Amino acid sequence: MTRIQSQPVRGAELTARARLEQMFDAGTFFEIDESVHHRSRHFGMETKKAPGDGVICGFGEIEGRTVYAYSQDRSILGGSLGEAHSQKIVKIMDLAGKAGVPVVGINDSGGARIQEGVEALAGYGEIFRRNVKFSGVIPQISLLMGPCAGGAVYSPALTDFVVMVDKKSFMFVTGPKVVQAVTSEQVDTETLGGGRVHAEVSGVAHFLVSSEIEGLELARRILSYLPQNNLEDIEWDLCDDDVVRSCDALESIVPREATRPYDIGDVIAQVMDKDSFLEVHKLWAQNIRVGFARLGGCPVGVVGNNPGYLAGVLDIAASRKAARFVRTCNAFGLPVISLVDVPGFLPGKEQEHGGIIDHGAKLAFAYCEATVPKLAVILRKSYGGAYIVMSSKHVGADYNFAWEGAEIAVMGAAGAVEILYGKELKESNGSEQRKKDLSDEYNRTVASTEVASQRGFVDAVISRADTRKVLFRSLRAIIGKKEDLPVKRNGNVPL
Ligand code: HXC
Repeated sequence: MTRIQSQPVRGAELTARARLEQMFDAGTFFEIDESVHHRSRHFGMETKKAPGDGVICGFGEIEGRTVYAYSQDRSILGGSLGEAHSQKIVKIMDLAGKAGVPVVGINDSGGARIQEGVEALAGYGEIFRRNVKFSGVIPQISLLMGPCAGGAVYSPALTDFVVMVDKKSFMFVTGPKVVQAVTSEQVDTETLGGGRVHAEVSGVAHFLVSSEIEGLELARRILSYLPQNNLEDIEWDLCDDDVVRSCDALESIVPREATRPYDIGDVIAQVMDKDSFLEVHKLWAQNIRVGFARLGGCPVGVVGNNPGYLAGVLDIAASRKAARFVRTCNAFGLPVISLVDVPGFLPGKEQEHGGIIDHGAKLAFAYCEATVPKLAVILRKSYGGAYIVMSSKHVGADYNFAWEGAEIAVMGAAGAVEILYGKELKESNGSEQRKKDLSDEYNRTVASTEVASQRGFVDAVISRADTRKVLFRSLRAIIGKKEDLPVKRNGNVPL
């Protein structure tokens, strides 16, 4: 076997090969195309030896299931992608697509190999096309393990998950040297495209890990929730957490007063199987939390408004985050469970100018389009457009529950009374008592879950303690759901 790297390259923990060996079940990685080499004769390439053309490709097993993978080697021509390098990646993508098994790409590359010009660009085009062709068919995970530029970031962006290593991996369309040459702006790699920037600010990274080994372990864990392909059934795990366990702690975790904050993560931890929650986009748009979990052993996607951050409001980032996650779950057949406690969409010029209309519509689109089982619980409140889009019956949810005392309305009582009676209260120097009476009447006659229950928009009002039991039983009752959308080329997701 060609040893293309014996020592990790500067700044790396592991060699390209060691990364693969670390990720796969011990001894299962099998390399193909190790003899492939570039044929370039331009710009000094005729003298450059590039074992394996700078990428190791093959397949192995993760928890006994086949997974294809490639690992770029930064010690060889900067891990840059030339014609031969791209053909190796394309070959395993095609094999994975035909076999219906996941692909993990370990990216550590300066992008298109400059010396190979259009042949390198063509190579990335071929990879992008396959990323898209197999999107929603087989899981695709990108691990970013070094400074990555150009196609080495666009291809990951076309996959399901991007994992970055804090302080070790960087993603940018062009690196600092090119930025300086083109715009004279001086910026370091971390500020331009470090893992923290992409995990907290841009949202490009779904996960930020502190070491390469943690990233490789994470790839294994992500795959444990997913089927091998979109036609395969999801796999139930053995569950040693009582499925009818009473969630008594929810009483103290969630304050009664609808405006008081708490972390929805604590609710998720109570309701789902113990320690099963794998949060996606943990650091970005924390006003909504999303991630994989298990309920009675069944892998599910969880979406929860988080009153502990920005009051759990839906803004641009939160809408994009949840929409993307719902679509990922739907693609791979995972039921979506939504825990709703939302004051509405965030108003204001910044949001409007940023396109909240389109981004919020994306969330509506994702829930409407999803044909997997959809279950939702309204914990304390669900107002306005946010009520509709957050897995309401009207966007096709199968089971909708509400906790006792929850409110569903166009808006909260204070706002409603102000809009409808503000003039009268002002003119008559309305007393606090009158305001309170109006608010009480509004809550009783308009915002009460009773109204929604009477129309069947809420299937049952449940106690907090019963949340896990009710969700599990109704999940089992709908798990065999089959629903088809009209045949079409593609829906037109809002901008
Ligand atoms: C050929 C490359 C290369 C490339 C790096 N190298 N990128 N060789 N083609 N694209 C080589 C360097 O010449 C060097 O070789 C070695 O890799 C390490 O590079 P350094 O610059 O010394 O490393 P570092 O300081 O860590 O910086 C890493 C980097 C930087 C930030 C990625 O190398 C960089 O900016 N590279 C260019 C990035 C880029 O613009 N790529 C094209 C994008 S266009 P020696 O022999 O000295 O060790 C593209 C097309 C698709 O990808 C775009 C779709 C949108």
